[in-house]
Amino acid sequence: MIYWFSGTGNSRWVAEELAKRLGDRLMDIADCIVQGDFRHVLSRGESIGWVFPTYSWGPPPVVLDFISRWHIDGYEKGLTYCYMVTTCGDDVGLTADIFADALGYIDCVAAFSVQMPNNYILLPGFDTDPPALVQSKKERAVARVAGIAEMIAARKQTTDVVTGQYKWIKSRVIRPFFIKHLMGDSKFVADRSQCNSCGTCVAVCPMHNITLADGGLPQWHGRCAMCLGCIHRCPRHAIQYGKITRSKGRYHY
Ligand SMILES: Cc1cc2nc3c(=O)[nH]c(=O)nc-3n(C[C@H](O)[C@H](O)[C@H](O)COP(=O)(O)O)c2cc1C
Ligand code: SF4
Ligand code: SF4
Repeated sequence: MIYWFSGTGNSRWVAEELAKRLGDRLMDIADCIVQGDFRHVLSRGESIGWVFPTYSWGPPPVVLDFISRWHIDGYEKGLTYCYMVTTCGDDVGLTADIFADALGYIDCVAAFSVQMPNNYILLPGFDTDPPALVQSKKERAVARVAGIAEMIAARKQTTDVVTGQYKWIKSRVIRPFFIKHLMGDSKFVADRSQCNSCGTCVAVCPMHNITLADGGLPQWHGRCAMCLGCIHRCPRHAIQYGKITRSKGRYHY
């Protein structure tokens, strides 16, 4: 069983590739949260996989929130193989450690990272990758995911992640600040002159956090996971996050 969360499609692609190669089933974390579906059953010998993007050098808070409410029947300590795969633009800091702690009594014995095109554009200095880099990251990811699938099939126990420099400061100092002050949907706005009320943003939001108001413009309702799916997938580039994203690129897999 592969649990996945994704905003702009990178992690979803990884999860689907792994499911295909391993003959495994997929479980959409956002759907489970929206439907209140937190109790699942493993079949005998089945592994538990987790695939999600790195958010500020840690797992997305929405994934940790899911885990805090999740129950799995059929887990056998020492026998059930549990692994995580995180996609990132550059590096993941202490994501694997934070994730293993969050799982509690379930042992996450393997952690992998996959570099994919960056989708973080909300702070100065952060933008989408140039097209050539998007292309080369996607090409390298194909071989990387194939290699990860082989390691998973072999039940390999390893931590094979790009932590990057200053991992402690990034994950233990910057990350808590980021979560407290830089997450949330209050700065999302739609430009009335660009938005044609197509509803794409409503449809792609994994958290069901967007509706179209009477005038046809999107409204955000405070259940945002900061996945950036809405801002990147609006076909009219009508969505901004304050003023900072006006000059930024857009990306989705
Ligand atoms: C809120 C947020 C924080 C991010 N923080 C990091 C980070 O700490 N390190 C990194 O390399 N990429 C970071 N990224 C980039 C994403 O991890 C990367 O683009 C990922 O592949 C997106 O996955 P998705 O398409 O499945 O949503 C961040 C993206 C978002 C939206
Ligand atoms: S996706 Fe863009 S154009 Fe479509 S309704 Fe949302 S903001 Fe408007
Ligand atoms: S509102 Fe936008 S950024 Fe927030 S969860 Fe929905 S799609 Fe993602």
